[in-house]
Amino acid sequence: MKWHVLRPLWLAIGLVVVILIARQFMVPEDFGVHGDSFTYNFYRLSNVQEWKDFPVKHQGRESCVECHEENVTTLNASPHAPIECENCHGPSVGHPDDVELLPIERAREHCLRCHASLDYPNHARSELPNVRDRTHKRRRECVTCHYPHDPREKPE
Ligand code: HEC
Ligand code: HEC
Ligand code: HEC
Ligand code: HEC
Repeated sequence: MKWHVLRPLWLAIGLVVVILIARQFMVPEDFGVHGDSFTYNFYRLSNVQEWKDFPVKHQGRESCVECHEENVTTLNASPHAPIECENCHGPSVGHPDDVELLPIERAREHCLRCHASLDYPNHARSELPNVRDRTHKRRRECVTCHYPHDPREKPE
């Protein structure tokens, strides 16, 4: 056979050999242990346990009642009731052992991610009350005037 045929042939064979060797090192030992079952073969056995061990970071507002009952009661009776505490304060796993874990976020951007008026027709009249960052009490933290746990409380 001519060289220009042999060379790509050797290259192809070499490539297959490299892939087979790499496979030995890279495929985990518990992959495909379910024999030839079409449903379960392409599957890593330890995957289920890994997800079971995955730490849950959010605890839900019921877990706050014990120590912050007043905040929970206030929030539940306010227009912000559908919002979880941890939506604004962050995942609470490890709190209160480490109090710094739940920093208080007072930045305007934090409120504007829900309340920013968007530039499309009729958004100003949407159900979620919205304001323009550029015109609504510029550069002042929203919480100096609006109480986040019950924003109905009228600002002066
Ligand atoms: C076992 C009691 C306990 C539980 C449960 C608890 N906290 Fe706290 N939390 C504390 C203590 C103690 C502090 C520090 C004193 C303070 O500021 O009142 C604190 C402080 C905070 C602060 C203020 C942090 C700061 O920087 O000043 C926030 C926000 C907070 N908690 C939110 C939550 C949320 C949300 C939950 C539920 C997901 C929760 N906490 C559950 C005891 C608790
Ligand atoms: C809409 C966002 C938002 C939600 C929802 C929210 N918080 Fe807050 N929270 C804040 C902000 C902002 C502050 C700081 C207010 C300030 O400094 O004027 C704060 C302050 C706090 C503080 C410290 C001061 C205080 O009022 O005691 C605690 C504790 C707290 N939140 C707990 C909670 C708990 C518990 C929930 C759920 C029941 C909750 N928060 C829900 C935004 C929120
Ligand atoms: C996750 C989305 C979300 C975030 C974050 C959020 N809000 Fe709200 N806010 C809402 C929803 C939903 C309502 C209730 C809309 C309704 O039912 O009328 C609301 C209502 C309000 C209202 C109108 C209350 C009334 O009179 O009815 C004010 C003012 C307000 N929020 C201020 C704030 C401030 C200040 C912050 C930041 C600390 C904030 N919001 C963060 C979703 C959010
Ligand atoms: C200096 C005080 C002040 C600051 C800071 C402020 N607001 Fe207001 N906000 C008011 C007052 C007063 C009103 C009611 C009159 C009006 O619409 O201007 C109001 C109205 C609103 C309304 C409409 C409520 C409804 O019932 O429709 C929303 C939403 C709102 N503010 C969100 C915010 C957000 C988000 C921020 C921060 C980006 C913010 N505000 C900062 C004083 C303030």
